[in-house]
Amino acid sequence: MASEHLPVLTDRVVELLAPSGPGLLVDATVGLGGHAEALLRAVPEFQLVGLDRDPQALARAGERLQPFSDRVQLVEETFDRLPLVLRRLGLGAPVAVLADIGCSSLQLDSAERGFSFASDGPLDMRMGGTGPTAADLLQQSEWEELVRILRDYGEERRARAIARAIVRRREQEPLRTTAQLSRLVQDVMGGRERRIHPATRTFQALRIAVNDELGQLERFLEPAIRSLKSGGRIAVISFHSLEDRIVKHTLRRLTGRCTCPPDFPVCRCNPQRVVEVLTSSPVRPDEEEIDRNPRARSARLRAALKRRED
Ligand SMILES: C[S@@+](CC[C@H](N)C(=O)[O-])C[C@H]1O[C@@H](n2cnc3c(N)ncnc32)[C@H](O)[C@@H]1O
Repeated sequence: MASEHLPVLTDRVVELLAPSGPGLLVDATVGLGGHAEALLRAVPEFQLVGLDRDPQALARAGERLQPFSDRVQLVEETFDRLPLVLRRLGLGAPVAVLADIGCSSLQLDSAERGFSFASDGPLDMRMGGTGPTAADLLQQSEWEELVRILRDYGEERRARAIARAIVRRREQEPLRTTAQLSRLVQDVMGGRERRIHPATRTFQALRIAVNDELGQLERFLEPAIRSLKSGGRIAVISFHSLEDRIVKHTLRRLTGRCTCPPDFPVCRCNPQRVVEVLTSSPVRPDEEEIDRNPRARSARLRAALKRRED
């Protein structure tokens, strides 16, 4: 049984996005519908298109948003395809876009989805039902690719040793379950005391790779911002520094700052002033929210306003 999913930084999301109404609100990661519900309540003139790649999440969001059914359309799709979805539905420019990226409690707490080392299940980790699973990736990737995934997406210092252990293990039999992988990583790490579980970084890295999470975010952000109406707003909540870095750099570039390397004699990046950033530093949850919902701990919210044409 999955625990309740508590949406993160909800009041701040509403504060930042409500002034953009009335019009089309896109929740690019509608999940279990928590943020969507709060926004639909706060702004009765919002019409919502909610995307999610996870059909189970969409079913739950559909139940939760039933009271607003005449204002809601839910679509099973990855958010990098937002411009296509808007065209397909014959919709114009949104006034607000929200993305609360990462996994929902529904995914993390379901052992059979394979996201967690805390409970045993198949090594799946797909947010949607398609594409290679984590087990496929561990079985088929070259050693160098495993090292890159563990190092780049998990910032795992023992990437080479863990990748070596995976390759040795799969020569005997494939890794099939979360418990097998967790045990393998613990064996590599030895029994030293740690602040976090030794397999945390490995599981994070695999999840990011299986779902192409950073690629999705890179392909989503700028088109989503450009699709906004003038004066429209975007808010993005991320849960680790790799994602937050992408959001921060994209917003900075779209404020019109030159991002050429300092040794370029003339600017080649042709910066355009598309947005004004509304959050000079990322908004973080306060202690009270973290006590209520420990998963909010690493959340960072950034928001921007699409400038009116000069
Ligand atoms: C943190 S949850 C969102 C929770 C939601 N804001 C709420 O209040 O219930 C993230 C959701 O984003 C979905 N997701 C993650 N990456 C996605 C992508 N690239 N395209 C579409 N949905 C995605 C996941 O399936 C998950 O349901």
